[in-house]
Amino acid sequence: MLYDLVKENRSYRGYKEGYTISEEDLKDLINMARITASGANLQPLKYRIVTDSSEVDALNSLTRWAKMLTNITLPHEGKYPNAYIVVCVDKDICKNEETAKMDIGIAAQTILLGAVEKGLGGCMLGNFDKEELNKALSLTETMSPQLIIAIGKPDEKVVLVDTSDDGSTKYYRDENDIHYVPKRKLEDILIR
Ligand SMILES: Cc1cc2nc3c(=O)[nH]c(=O)nc-3n(C[C@H](O)[C@H](O)[C@H](O)COP(=O)(O)O)c2cc1C
Repeated sequence: MLYDLVKENRSYRGYKEGYTISEEDLKDLINMARITASGANLQPLKYRIVTDSSEVDALNSLTRWAKMLTNITLPHEGKYPNAYIVVCVDKDICKNEETAKMDIGIAAQTILLGAVEKGLGGCMLGNFDKEELNKALSLTETMSPQLIIAIGKPDEKVVLVDTSDDGSTKYYRDENDIHYVPKRKLEDILIR
């Protein structure tokens, strides 16, 4: 059921480093994003697959993970992803990146749902320095990187919980490194 895929599709910040995702699988995921909705059907998004180990290392160090958890650094050593998809706006197609933001969300969620269906998982990463990324991947002037998606074989447990009475949406980890993600209850998001 789609609900189960959506539920399984969490932001994973720990992966089995020994698992290598194939280029073909990554292209399958991008091919799904290719046919999703796009404002004015402009299709301004371009995708850079990153599997080369030195480029992966560069992205592992320039991405910032779970910065709300100030007492730990994620991913843990030995649990880094070994593939990324960088979602860029082609400025030759769309000058204003803001107008492509919704397309990016639709594409990213589609890619991640596809990954979950393949027994994989990932994490959207918007917290990175664009200049550093441009340098690491030698992106051309026209490619404006907007979102990095880590993809791999998840190696951690993520649990959804209802927000408690204080309404906090801050995610947290317990002593066993289980990651808890509070979600607002249905009755709290329905406008009456
Ligand atoms: C646009 C966007 C950007 C994000 N950027 C980051 C990021 O830079 N680093 C990170 O660790 N998580 C990032 N996340 C993941 C969120 O923290 C995550 O979605 C949230 O904690 C809820 O967890 P869930 O995805 O398992 O529901 C991002 C999510 C979105 C939608």
